[in-house]
Amino acid sequence: MTSLTRIRRFLDEREPPTPCLVVDTDLVAARAAEVAAAFGTARIRYAVKANPAPPVLDTLVAAGAGFDVASPAEIRLCLARGADPAALAYGNTVKKPADIAFAYERGVREFTTDAESDLENLARHAPGSAVSVRVLLDAPDSVTPFGRKFGCEPSVALDLVLRAAALGLRPGLAFHVGSQQPDPSAWEIGIATAAKLFAEAAAAGVTLDRLNIGGGFAVGYRSEVPAIAEYAAKIGDALRTHFPDGAPELTMEPGRVLVAAAGVLRTEVVLVARRSATDERRWVYLDVGRYNGLAEAENEAIAYRFEPLEERGGPSGPVILAGPTCDGDDVLYQRTAYELPLSLRAGDRFDILAAGAYTASYSSVAFNGIEPLRTYCVGRYGDAA
Ligand SMILES: Cc1ncc(COP(=O)(O)O)c(C=O)c1O
Repeated sequence: MTSLTRIRRFLDEREPPTPCLVVDTDLVAARAAEVAAAFGTARIRYAVKANPAPPVLDTLVAAGAGFDVASPAEIRLCLARGADPAALAYGNTVKKPADIAFAYERGVREFTTDAESDLENLARHAPGSAVSVRVLLDAPDSVTPFGRKFGCEPSVALDLVLRAAALGLRPGLAFHVGSQQPDPSAWEIGIATAAKLFAEAAAAGVTLDRLNIGGGFAVGYRSEVPAIAEYAAKIGDALRTHFPDGAPELTMEPGRVLVAAAGVLRTEVVLVARRSATDERRWVYLDVGRYNGLAEAENEAIAYRFEPLEERGGPSGPVILAGPTCDGDDVLYQRTAYELPLSLRAGDRFDILAAGAYTASYSSVAFNGIEPLRTYCVGRYGDAA
């Protein structure tokens, strides 16, 4: 049975209220196996923020993955699902001293940093830990880039690496090429930058042997993206080129690529309206919008694939898609072209495909009184949902 069939069977039998997300944990397991096979010995630290549903975490614990956590709450969640604290990497560079102490007390020994004050906090509250310094890259923009929020320029990174060693920490390097990065050459830029810094650190008496290549592997929403094996091959080539004497110990933090394809979001049309006699575009308001699941439609960055359930046939016409709240920003797509049947009406439903990442985890608690996106899980770990 395909994943989509399993998910639709659940939706059709249980008829949960929409909007809701259904995740097939078997597909998550399959994606984890695929990534592990493609990247060989690299340590996988799943980015929990992509989808923290307990059955998803159970699946990844069983698959032998570790976790990239960003807060005490994510640490607590992973430990409650049976994760080994030694397999948790605190990847958020923005953290309070109390957050670091919390992590250390629970056995976390791997952190990422990009600022001297954070490094000093790490030395104080997580003594002797492995600390990767995140480097800012001059790499092609991804679909949902981080801008300049994280990472420091290579010369600053070198200072931090040397300082980390002096403080008794175990320095390494990290980079992240931005989420939904369709260009594998971005990683080559990161690897080349790291190799240069490894050499400079060695010249200053500090040996580096760990590199965290982040996440960012893209998912095919409405357009084709490279397969995970293609990313792995390009990254392998770059490592051989820039580290000819042997690659460092690799860590990766995939999020989206492990869970997106495993999720289907079912939504219902609330209203179809014509706003002008001259504009042929109809406004179609769904029961899911920017605040209860489709946050990544911001700037129309992620354009999802919508599959209608009611096949009415007949001609289609252009639409603007919007969410259900009273907020003017809760518009999903007005520049991205979407066409829907002219016969579309309130009550019609859509399945939004590849919606397993950054949907439920981004939804607000109760904006306009609308509850956060509910997640159900099917597959081997589904009963735990
Ligand atoms: C530090 C860090 N690692 C990993 C990820 C996961 O990225 P992706 O879901 O694109 O694989 C993110 C995403 O925001 C991140 O901030």
